[in-house]
Amino acid sequence: MSSLATMLSTETGPEAEPLLSARDLTKVFHTGGQDFRAVDGVSLDVKPGKVLGIVGESGSGKSTVARMVMRLIEPSSGQIMFEGENLTAKSGEALRQTRRHMQIVFQNPHSALNPRDTIGSAIAEPFLVQTRIRGAELERRVEALLDIISLPKAFKYRYPHELSGGQKQRVCIARAVALEPRLLVLDEPTSALDVSVQAQILMFLQDLRVRLNLTYLFISHNLAVVRHLCDDVIVMSKGRIVESGSTDAVFKSPREAYTRKLIDSVPRIPRLCV
Ligand SMILES: Nc1ncnc2c1ncn2[C@@H]1O[C@H](COP(=O)(O)OP(=O)(O)O)[C@@H](O)[C@H]1O
Ligand SMILES: [Mg+2]
Repeated sequence: MSSLATMLSTETGPEAEPLLSARDLTKVFHTGGQDFRAVDGVSLDVKPGKVLGIVGESGSGKSTVARMVMRLIEPSSGQIMFEGENLTAKSGEALRQTRRHMQIVFQNPHSALNPRDTIGSAIAEPFLVQTRIRGAELERRVEALLDIISLPKAFKYRYPHELSGGQKQRVCIARAVALEPRLLVLDEPTSALDVSVQAQILMFLQDLRVRLNLTYLFISHNLAVVRHLCDDVIVMSKGRIVESGSTDAVFKSPREAYTRKLIDSVPRIPRLCV
């Protein structure tokens, strides 16, 4: 962690109110005439300025948790609090307003961008939908975001197919931070990218968090990445939390056999980010 990040962590302290809390979140899907409990009684706290990781094998319910805390899908039961307000009770305009402050980046940047929209339009979209910013000011904002993601201004005229996977994911991240959210939910943001690009995006995300004073809920099945990036971690299996705690504690002395198995099966990632 950089010295600036350490200072920020100290400032927020362990007693800070969570930015996001979930209590007893459950999601039951009804498929083929059967009920399937994809998430079962998950509670979590994301502290301001920190990174909370969720790890677990594929199908353990990580994305379902992410989608529920974003209110992209409705929980079957449970409560979500964001900045001390009950998000589960919100709808319509109130929900829309809160959504500005929490954004999600998905796994696959190739499907997240409309192939018919230029990069400039893609980055302008959040402003057009959520604000009255238009014209020269909008152009300025788009260019500033391109600068944040280290892409040349001229990229605003390009189309998604003219970008690499890593560049596309940077554009998705630019869209997500356009309206200066407080929370970024990152659902396996590097899993669809080449290994060589993964480290770059992770380092970029780490830097971005400090620059924009963001809080992350970071989902990954790659424990090496989580260990490097997260302050605290939750381990999920079959829709439930099997272990949680500070990343150091969980990695140094995992209490559960499932967590040990995950740690032992860590794939190698480039030296750059571990
Ligand atoms: N819309 C849905 N309908 C039915 N089952 C679903 C749906 N979405 C996810 N699931 C199931 O819920 C479980 C958890 O999925 P998911 O949250 O995507 O896991 P993860 O992100 O950890 O891989 C999986 O078994 C998945 O097949
Ligand atoms: Mg997933």
